[in-house]
Amino acid sequence: MSLLDLVAAPARRPHIRPVPGPRAPAAAQTLQWLHWPTQMLERARARHGETFRLDIAPEPIVLLCGREDIRRVMAAGADQVSAGEANLEVTRVTVGTRSTIGLDGHPHARRRKQLRPGLNGAQLRGYGTIMEEITREVVSAFPRDRTFALHPAMQEITLRVIARTVFGTAAGHESRELTRRLGRFLRLGELPLALLVVLHLSTHPEAEQRAVFRALLAGRERAREIVAEQIARRRAAGGADDDVLSLLLRARDEAGQPLSDDELRDELMTLLVAGHETTATALCWCFELILSHPRVRARLVEELDAAGGGDASPEVIQALPYLDATLKEVLRLRPVLAFVRRRLRQPFTLGGYALPTGTTVAPCIYLAQRDPRVYPDPERFEPERFLDAKADPCAWLPFGGGTRRCVGIGFAQYEMKIVLAQVLASQRLALAAPRPARTVHRAITFFPEGGTRVRATGEGDPRP
Ligand code: HEM
Repeated sequence: MSLLDLVAAPARRPHIRPVPGPRAPAAAQTLQWLHWPTQMLERARARHGETFRLDIAPEPIVLLCGREDIRRVMAAGADQVSAGEANLEVTRVTVGTRSTIGLDGHPHARRRKQLRPGLNGAQLRGYGTIMEEITREVVSAFPRDRTFALHPAMQEITLRVIARTVFGTAAGHESRELTRRLGRFLRLGELPLALLVVLHLSTHPEAEQRAVFRALLAGRERAREIVAEQIARRRAAGGADDDVLSLLLRARDEAGQPLSDDELRDELMTLLVAGHETTATALCWCFELILSHPRVRARLVEELDAAGGGDASPEVIQALPYLDATLKEVLRLRPVLAFVRRRLRQPFTLGGYALPTGTTVAPCIYLAQRDPRVYPDPERFEPERFLDAKADPCAWLPFGGGTRRCVGIGFAQYEMKIVLAQVLASQRLALAAPRPARTVHRAITFFPEGGTRVRATGEGDPRP
């Protein structure tokens, strides 16, 4: 099967015809999804209502935007809906098959339990200073008085932070090679047909052997090798460090069995990729929106100044209410992932349509977070919405929900607040264009076209 076949004939076709949706052939819909994703979602919602079908690669899906439908799907047990199998159809090529993302049921719950201590609570507080140090170093190298894309710098920060979190300090120069290789491999996501290649290889792993794909995947292969070397070296050395790799090496299942080398490798690759790519993109969206709204930026700087500016401790930064509200509002208006996937393991009636077992449904983050009943004047960027109100988990779901909600939700927000505070306190940046960038695909994520082009216009006085 070729790339073109994938566009023309999505892999699975469950019987979801009664659900309304665009009538164009699957190939035309997939191409539209590649090039005009947000317009496609908005048009389908306006024409077909809160529940509609999209025939896009790798398979037709039923998008859900209604609060109650999203609540039911997110709350459903592993015997009613699964996620691992559907996730692998889009992520297998990047992160392999044996990590949290591809698991379901009890093995999934067990793995999440094993991961949680490394990414939350007291452990998180320990990462604050490292996040700050890495941010300062990268930001101090921003070019002066010329336009540049912020994304590579955000990617460098988030990749170095997650590599350090996963491997601790022991990895040294291998960690640097790993971040370089992985960064370069993921940048391929910016190529126009990258999403199709990702979907093709995720649904047809045998195609990886073709020369053209082997060349594209060389960076991933080297990254996998480095991760495997780290695992072998750490197993041999023993020790009781508290980085994520050490915690996973000590983890045991109910029968007392440790994780295998392949499981460890895929889990670490997942953390490295999922743990930085989304965060770097979300940071770019933060700058797109904050820099194009001087009132919001001024209020953020004022709040930060009152708390000690760039010297405020990570803990103080975490507690700043306007910064917290701004981050939530950015993630509402510019979610990095458009929807999450769930596969029905039993028939469900959703949006009034009887859906058979095997249907892939997709709670739509992008549209649910623009529901005017929950967010009046939804296209307006207004952090105040979240100042005194708790986010509704069925209408604010940038990290997904239910038992599959992102394991890095606390880590990502902690890191983004530190990076935002450091940059706002030390840099005077201006967007190269007057408006926030258009949304384009970077592999599976929603990315600001051009990677957030800015100009740094001097240090020390961050006010607009
Ligand atoms: C702004 C940053 C991030 C965003 C927007 C984001 C978003 C998401 C979303 C939407 C999902 C799918 C949830 C679902 O199916 O309901 C997810 C899953 C996941 N994320 Fe994140 N994520 C971010 C950062 C991170 C970080 C920092 C890590 C690790 C340190 C991480 C690790 C994972 C993992 C392992 C899963 C799979 C969870 C499962 O299937 O149980 N993510 N993320």
